[in-house]
Amino acid sequence: MVTTTDTPAPHTPATEKLPNSPFHLLGGHPVVQAIVDRFYDLMDSDPAYAELRAMHAPDLTKMRSALAQFLAGWSGGPRDWFEANPGRCMMSVHKPYTITREAAGQWAEAMKRAIADVAPANADLGRQMGEILSEMAVGMGQPPQ
Ligand code: HEM
Repeated sequence: MVTTTDTPAPHTPATEKLPNSPFHLLGGHPVVQAIVDRFYDLMDSDPAYAELRAMHAPDLTKMRSALAQFLAGWSGGPRDWFEANPGRCMMSVHKPYTITREAAGQWAEAMKRAIADVAPANADLGRQMGEILSEMAVGMGQPPQ
């Protein structure tokens, strides 16, 4: 008897593995990288995000690549970040930082703005991603001690 499985071969490109993933439907790497670059450009230039900016290293080059890779895997695309960081998750990545409600709000706001500015062709999906990421960020903010 021949059995079939939906499990993809391990090394096929992610767009072939999950052609309907949010990553693919949003436009893949060029769009995700453009959103991340816009996010860090805003964070770097708009004083409204000063608290969030101050938490990051002066050079954002590593983060531009890390966040884009993270979001690719998170949205169903290539899982390079997760494979390069076995066992790491949102909680462990951010453990060293005290994230205030203000900083969390700044992250959420800058990400929604970045998505709106990049304006992915699939506008509804872009908006939904912005909402979900924003909720994740706000959920990471801590009340003042
Ligand atoms: C709630 C507000 C947030 C704050 C204040 C925050 C802050 C930070 C800081 C300070 C770093 C280290 C940056 C550096 O090394 O220069 C970092 C790393 C990172 N953050 Fe956040 N973050 C927030 C939310 C998020 C969210 C919502 C995501 C994902 C959806 C995310 C994904 C990441 C990733 C992937 C890294 C890099 C991990 C690595 O490869 O080293 N962050 N974050």
